[in-house]
Amino acid sequence: MSQVSSDPGVAIDRAAADRPIPKPGLLDIHPYVPGKAKVEGVAEPVKLSANENPLGSSPKAQAAYAEAAAKLNLYPDPKAMIVRAAIAERFGLEPERLVFGCGSDEVFQILNQTFLEPGDNMVQGEFGFAAFAIGAKAAGGEIKYAKEPGFRIDVDELLAQVDERTRLVFLANPGNPTGTWIPFSEVRRLHEALPASVVLVLDGAYGEFALDPGFSDGLELARGSVNVVVTHTFSKLHGLAGLRIGWAYAPAQIAEAMERIRLPFNTAIPAQLAAVAALADEDFQRASIELVEQWRPWLTQQLGGLGLEVVSPSATNFLLVGFPKTAGRTAPEAEAFLASRGLLVRGVKLYGLPDHLRVTIGLEAHNRALIEALADFMRAS
Ligand SMILES: Cc1ncc(COP(=O)(O)O)c(C=O)c1O
Repeated sequence: MSQVSSDPGVAIDRAAADRPIPKPGLLDIHPYVPGKAKVEGVAEPVKLSANENPLGSSPKAQAAYAEAAAKLNLYPDPKAMIVRAAIAERFGLEPERLVFGCGSDEVFQILNQTFLEPGDNMVQGEFGFAAFAIGAKAAGGEIKYAKEPGFRIDVDELLAQVDERTRLVFLANPGNPTGTWIPFSEVRRLHEALPASVVLVLDGAYGEFALDPGFSDGLELARGSVNVVVTHTFSKLHGLAGLRIGWAYAPAQIAEAMERIRLPFNTAIPAQLAAVAALADEDFQRASIELVEQWRPWLTQQLGGLGLEVVSPSATNFLLVGFPKTAGRTAPEAEAFLASRGLLVRGVKLYGLPDHLRVTIGLEAHNRALIEALADFMRAS
């Protein structure tokens, strides 16, 4: 009986096996663990575990989504022309350089498939977003992790990991789950030091919540580069996570290659219609940013007041909260306690952060309930 081995040194005769054997390494990929959505005994828990938009989504996007009900028998436009035109106009980009995905997650997957062969590697920060690595491993690539001292991307650490087999560097700026960011000057320095053959992927999923003037999502860098890809999503600022649509702005020759392997109908009609409407609804976007702007400092200060260590400053719609040994209580205990109060937050042990929790910034009532519950929890220690 043949064994499925994860050890690359153990040769498996896959042709002689008594059942189909997946490609080497696939079963070593840790399944993606989404933020919890349910807790027993609580009918409608407050979900602060997936960095969703607590305001919902634009009423205009919802109306556009409803319109799609009459078109469910039709295949979507494979080129997503209406979204392509809207994004190109809004950001001043060449439409043919845009690639759409079923969420930006799929865009990462396509990038990994486009560039990685077995033996190649992808470089990312040690706390890098899990979806980057899943696609890289599925493509047979290796992941090289760069230290993130102080929970922050360090350009020199990233560069130290780059070797002749590096094809991609993934940088979420701001990062998830850290929430921290690096200034555009550092992104430029990274780009200048990278060989032109390495693709620098700048994931701007949370970029709209980074309000410091020193921040940039990198579109201006990507415009004139042969090796910079910027990605964005409709899941966060626009509150369309359930519809799954994201995009990349890539150099023309990269976009062309990605388009060859992208599945033709990967963004659905409701997603395309809602995305266009959401992009036009600047009031909703402003309200989403203002909510974060208002509650991020308050939550940071309140959590600090409870003896917890917030990784600061966060440039996202969430906070990474550390439970120091001196607090006397652990992050998993706090996660369970909060769940018992109907407040779902995200444990981040799988990111190598067993003493931290990630908490989405919610509506006022959510944020106040969170602090009240955590105060009770800490008092009980
Ligand atoms: C850093 C980062 N990039 C990308 C995404 C994925 O977004 P999408 O919903 O577009 O797949 C997320 C989602 O949580 C994220 O945290």
